[in-house]
Amino acid sequence: MKHSDFKNNIVRGPINAWVFKFLDGYMNYLFGKSKRKLFKNHPETIVEIGSGTGANMRYLTKRTNLIAIEPNIYMHNNLKKNAVKYGINLEIKTMVGESIDLPDNSCDFVVSTLVLCTVNNPVTCINQIKRILKPSGIFVFVEHVKAKEKSILAYIQKILHKPWHWFFEGCHTNRDTKSLLESAGFNTLEIEAYNLYSPFIPITSQIRGKATK
Ligand SMILES: C[S@@+](CC[C@H](N)C(=O)[O-])C[C@H]1O[C@@H](n2cnc3c(N)ncnc32)[C@H](O)[C@@H]1O
Repeated sequence: MKHSDFKNNIVRGPINAWVFKFLDGYMNYLFGKSKRKLFKNHPETIVEIGSGTGANMRYLTKRTNLIAIEPNIYMHNNLKKNAVKYGINLEIKTMVGESIDLPDNSCDFVVSTLVLCTVNNPVTCINQIKRILKPSGIFVFVEHVKAKEKSILAYIQKILHKPWHWFFEGCHTNRDTKSLLESAGFNTLEIEAYNLYSPFIPITSQIRGKATK
């Protein structure tokens, strides 16, 4: 997918930007502990795929250089405001994670939280992450994933997929991101599968972890 294939939706784009801003505190309550652990000791420059409104900035050390790959222009305003709030040096790249303009082997640390569910082509996006990482560079992730086959959660993911996908601009309730990461050929991969209990039942099945190139 090229960036020119990404369509900014003039209705759902701003609505989603508002939703993520509104949910910011609750998301911190749900994910804060895992994210703090994953981002611990991060280097001074990091790349984030799909930064949204900047939910992860609170976990970064002040004056971190954050290269935010965020194609949705409606997220940018809040992203910039959060950069000021959390003292982050922000560079926004309005492009998709499937086609990143950073050189091969140039990044120490890449982050993706709740993004591989949404990118148009997750395999290409993961390959881009691997491409831009330096050897031994670290990729950390928190993602919601496909529930266990034939479970009640899998059924709920299936019936809610269409409206969820429409409202959240391409988010797949039931993408098997765990398998995609497992077959991506990272040098090391630590994945923890867990359940996240919240009113957002389709995203109950989650993974978090870290990979090295
Ligand atoms: C569910 S939001 C998550 C935002 C943030 N990472 C968080 O944890 O709150 C998904 C984000 O991925 C972005 N996105 C969608 N398609 C993308 C793509 N192809 N490449 C990079 N980011 C994308 C969306 O614009 C949105 O900001």
